[in-house]
Amino acid sequence: MPMRLESLAVHAGAEPDTATGAVAPPLHLSTTFQHGPAAERVAGFEYAREGNPTQARLETALAALEGGAAALAFASGMAAADALLSSLPAGSDLLLPADVYQGIRTLARDFLPRLGIRAVTVDVTDAKAVAAALTPTTRCIWLETPSNPLLQIADIAAIATIAHRAGAVVVVDSTFATPCLQQPLALGADVVMHSTTKYFGGHSDVMGGALIFAHADALYDSVAHARHLRGGVMAPFNAWLTLRGLRSLPARMAWHCRNGRAMAEFLTSHPRVEAVHWPGLPNHPNHAIAARQMRDFGGMLSVRIRGGRDAALSVASKVKMFTNATSLGGCESLIEHRASVEGLNPVSPQNLLRLSVGIEAAEDLIADLDQALG
Ligand SMILES: Cc1ncc(COP(=O)(O)O)c(C=O)c1O
Repeated sequence: MPMRLESLAVHAGAEPDTATGAVAPPLHLSTTFQHGPAAERVAGFEYAREGNPTQARLETALAALEGGAAALAFASGMAAADALLSSLPAGSDLLLPADVYQGIRTLARDFLPRLGIRAVTVDVTDAKAVAAALTPTTRCIWLETPSNPLLQIADIAAIATIAHRAGAVVVVDSTFATPCLQQPLALGADVVMHSTTKYFGGHSDVMGGALIFAHADALYDSVAHARHLRGGVMAPFNAWLTLRGLRSLPARMAWHCRNGRAMAEFLTSHPRVEAVHWPGLPNHPNHAIAARQMRDFGGMLSVRIRGGRDAALSVASKVKMFTNATSLGGCESLIEHRASVEGLNPVSPQNLLRLSVGIEAAEDLIADLDQALG
């Protein structure tokens, strides 16, 4: 029976256990699985680094939610990104967004050159600039939309067309959007990546990452091989917690979006605020693309405070309900001065605060920001 996303989130990979009838999925911690004398598999599994039943349930659910043919679960979002990027052939060029999660930028700088992979930065909000940046050896265009931390939006369908004409694959880090807000594979992307540490887990208590593939093709095979041999697989307990989290993902996302809008509208009208970056605002430079390719605009936003670094730090030091912490996507609201966590050469503006808006009462969150802004 065809299901809508809200139903899939509850039912995908959720069949009652055949051995016991248990409705909640069993947590299989076994690292090894019985096989025949000549290594014949009894129930499809051999060793947990390659795959295990709890993780397989999660992968089934992830593939269903993204409309993909296959999924792979990893120990973290970075393990997922690393397995994909390190599977590109030596001599490849990789296009990276100008605004991208700093871990991806650092991975590309510090590790990919050793594999013969060169990263070139491009403004992916401009599809013409992406076309102009292609080289004969561009094999992958990496998109992160909405981006971290500036909430920029890339036109997935337009860039997928450009990439495919040039023989490159498009990977979309859709961590901020989740499948509830955007379906990159339906827009032409080849692979979707998630840090499941964020909204999928949803409670700030489980690390994980995922790749969902449009086709179970040679790229999928090579990344599955990389996960098996490089060992960045998701642990069964983490798969179990993530599976539990995704059951309520659409319900939580609806609330995150509602609160995200309330914060964006409140902050936009505040005299101490210089700019609000949230793709649902009509004055966001990429709002038209966001409105076309997203169902709603999410609970992540960034705000620039008038008065520079000190003014931003003053706001961050006065919040009471928002917690100063990194990461995002949990039930609780977080705030972070990104430049302070970006090390020696920060790229984020010094007056920028990133907000992960949780699912508390919007009125309480607004009251907190109001008193902190003074
Ligand atoms: C957009 C985005 N992608 C990837 C990652 C990395 O994920 P993880 O921390 O699970 O390795 C993060 C982490 O903050 C992120 O925000």
